[in-house]
Amino acid sequence: MKSSRISSWPKLSALAKQLRPRRIESLFDDDADRVGEFSIDAAGLYLDYSKNLIDRAALRLLVELAHECALAERIERLFRGDRINVTEGRAVLHTALRDPQDDVRVDGQPVAGDIRAVQAKMRTLVEAVCSGRWTGFRGDRITDVVNIGIGGSHLGPLLACDALRYDAASGLRVHFCSNVDGGDIDRTLTGLDPATTLFIVASKSFTTPETALNANSARRWLLAAAGDEAATAKHFLAISAHPAKAAAFGIPADNVLPMWDWVGGRYSLWSAIGLPIAFALGMHGFERLLAGAAAMDRHFRSAPFERNMPVLFALVGIWNTNFLGAESFAVVPYDDRLFQLPAYLQQLEMESNGKRVTLANRPVKVATAPILWGGLGTNVQHAFFQLLHQGTRLIPVDFILAMTHQRSPREHHDMLVANCIAQAEALMCGRQRAELDDGTPAEPGIDLPLHRETPGNQPSNMLILESLTPETLGALLALYEHKTYVQGVIWGINSFDQWGVELGKKLAGKLLAEMGGGTREKHDGSTSALLERYLRSRG
Ligand code: F6P
Repeated sequence: MKSSRISSWPKLSALAKQLRPRRIESLFDDDADRVGEFSIDAAGLYLDYSKNLIDRAALRLLVELAHECALAERIERLFRGDRINVTEGRAVLHTALRDPQDDVRVDGQPVAGDIRAVQAKMRTLVEAVCSGRWTGFRGDRITDVVNIGIGGSHLGPLLACDALRYDAASGLRVHFCSNVDGGDIDRTLTGLDPATTLFIVASKSFTTPETALNANSARRWLLAAAGDEAATAKHFLAISAHPAKAAAFGIPADNVLPMWDWVGGRYSLWSAIGLPIAFALGMHGFERLLAGAAAMDRHFRSAPFERNMPVLFALVGIWNTNFLGAESFAVVPYDDRLFQLPAYLQQLEMESNGKRVTLANRPVKVATAPILWGGLGTNVQHAFFQLLHQGTRLIPVDFILAMTHQRSPREHHDMLVANCIAQAEALMCGRQRAELDDGTPAEPGIDLPLHRETPGNQPSNMLILESLTPETLGALLALYEHKTYVQGVIWGINSFDQWGVELGKKLAGKLLAEMGGGTREKHDGSTSALLERYLRSRG
């Protein structure tokens, strides 16, 4: 963000100063149509952002800010396949995966044909495995699929399989293993039969050490039962942008599904990385997920900013972060099926926008990605909600709720919905001490109403899905992806690299070499002492 050239920025700061002392609920008194004005429907989702400390003037200025940051052109560049990931020299085309268009090209080459070819291969594989035509080393049909991957090669498929568990039509059990902690692969494999288990090694780079180690352990487990290297071909698939590396691991070329450099890891569930989803739901279910995301893409690309859900969602986030000073926000789905959503969004938003340098090679002068955290309602009402109600920080909340739930009896769903809506109301309205001065006896010297007071004025968004389906989940994830991109554009950063994660990986590699008896490196005192302590206890 080149703030000096952005005239809306100081105006927004001035407006925020005026609005800060206001009560959010009082803004409803000023504006009879506030809910109509501060809400939007798109791609099967409804977003009510009226419970934010924002008014029409601020929203107009935020839209002006988006125009000043050339957002319209930046959206076009994303969809067109320009190399907008400039620090890695790559295009960013997760949108093409959901609706491959013949005019989208990378380096002059159309990508639609490649995308369709990989989807056809996914379909063939899913049919072969689900029909029982694909058999294991003993001739048995496959009953269990284990995805081995981490980060973007794990979180999206895990979220989708968990969220859409009631749409699982294939009968296959799909499992996930990501952590290098040996307990993870142990837990995953316990109870599985090597003869009926199919592994997917999912790694865009095929160099991620955690994935490589887990894949090796899985292969050892398989070969201990099969007793023949040839079993690998019947039990291992790979997904990678570097198929040669998968071949070097011993996975036959026919079993490798390609992806491309122009799909970012955290944006990759729409590519062949989504294979576990297709195994769980059937290919048609996966295509429904793509279709939901594509509907949000079309809306994002064509709607004017004033009626554009991802743009407005992003701008409200910018307002809360940069003008009201929120340092974090909580994502709270009131839906057990969305348990994995906060973790998925943490990678999406924080790996994308946890940046400090602009595209113009300058330090960013404003706060970038806020800390994203969260958990499931109603559970978290009995955990961290106390801090939202009476803590000292401004913490906006994204509530997410499905209006209907085919597996939840009416009395459960009524209670869930009542709690979700009530929490948003309580966070906004609070309860002032005057209302609490009911003469309840307290210890001498204790001003009980003061302790019981909840100040309110915590902003929130309410995201409503009619029901959680592959389509609405696709639209929801695309909404957050586009929100992330819009915010990156406003902050002037590259949302598509992740150089920050490299140093830790490199240092872990060095320490591992030292543990293996390699030359001792120079470390700080604490690091050396920790290494010594581990080596002593390892014996
Ligand atoms: O360490 C970060 C990261 O590169 C993520 O961006 C990525 O999703 C994850 O590691 C896994 O990478 P890969 O798919 O190449 O194994």
